[in-house]
Amino acid sequence: MAFWKGLSKPIVGLAPMDGVTDQAMRFITAKYGQPAVIFTEFINVEHVAAKPQKLFNRFWFSAIERPIVAQLSGVTPNLFYQLAFVAAYLGFDGVDLNMGCPSRSITHRGGGAGLIGNQELVKEIVFSVRRGLDDWEKGKKIETVVDGKILLAAKATKERSSRVGIKTKKRQKPDLSIKTRPGIKKPIIKDWLGFLASLPVEAIILHGRVLSCGHSGPVDWPIVAQAAEIVHQEGKILLGNGGIKSFKEAKEITNQYRLDGVLIGRGAMGNPWVFDDKKPDKEERFLVMMDHVRYYLDLFGQDNFLDLRKHLAWYSKGFPGASKLRSRLVRVNCYADIERIIGQK
Ligand SMILES: Cc1cc2nc3c(=O)[nH]c(=O)nc-3n(C[C@H](O)[C@H](O)[C@H](O)COP(=O)(O)O)c2cc1C
Repeated sequence: MAFWKGLSKPIVGLAPMDGVTDQAMRFITAKYGQPAVIFTEFINVEHVAAKPQKLFNRFWFSAIERPIVAQLSGVTPNLFYQLAFVAAYLGFDGVDLNMGCPSRSITHRGGGAGLIGNQELVKEIVFSVRRGLDDWEKGKKIETVVDGKILLAAKATKERSSRVGIKTKKRQKPDLSIKTRPGIKKPIIKDWLGFLASLPVEAIILHGRVLSCGHSGPVDWPIVAQAAEIVHQEGKILLGNGGIKSFKEAKEITNQYRLDGVLIGRGAMGNPWVFDDKKPDKEERFLVMMDHVRYYLDLFGQDNFLDLRKHLAWYSKGFPGASKLRSRLVRVNCYADIERIIGQK
């Protein structure tokens, strides 16, 4: 069954965040917050083709994160075809296409938000991905679909998944969605969303800021509501996104603007509780933070420790003395340092 249609509303999910929603963050968010749906960081198809071992870190998940959506960015239809097939092979519930990312490393080749308005290329990409997912459903063998280097990485990733019990025996076709913005400098809702809604996708996620606003400034919810009307006419799902900081707000926005739900990004940093508005005390915050640290180190090892510091800072908020503690935690170098600082030893 298509997973998007089966979700109860409001759908409140975890947004994709490059450098943030890695497998450890997603696991902890699922364990303590249970979002309705979880997105991976974007995976750039051209980068993966050049360095397929990236699949290990970015295309790996555990069962608790379901339903989980693999997000792809890039501009090369044939690579989209291959990586959509790989996402299905690895058992993802959905594939999402990034058409909103402002990062220069992606947009300079026309990817991410660079795709906004480029109907010809978007069509080619969407139909390539559809073909990848259909070929998976029809029973094509991965060896006949993907290139040698990607094949090796995909198989290794699958083996790692099966070791932790990800079951992908039954061929289940992932749903397809697109995450985008209302326009580059000003909203072009009728043209852009009307076009996207006419494509064979199950859901659209709209970050309610045009590209030139980046990630800050007010979110244009009336524009998101207009988009929802257009997308609903095609019988598809529309989630809004931008600036939401609580589950209560997520429900209010969904109702007020007649959406199907929203994704929460920065509001979930160091805060898996945002998905049920539980207010953890300091002890609980630290317990979860340490769980996150252990899980992260198991996956990525001490060599990648420094990437954890930002998460430690995000967890240390909202209690007396938090800022002092934060300034110490952003300088730690190992697990023992953290234990010593928070006095849990
Ligand atoms: C650090 C960071 C990384 C992001 N990476 C991605 C990404 O990989 N793919 C994507 O579609 N959006 C990405 N975004 C955008 C978010 O998914 C979301 O649209 C945006 O942050 C607005 O939602 P928020 O205000 O709830 O954070 C990123 C945002 C941030 C702050």
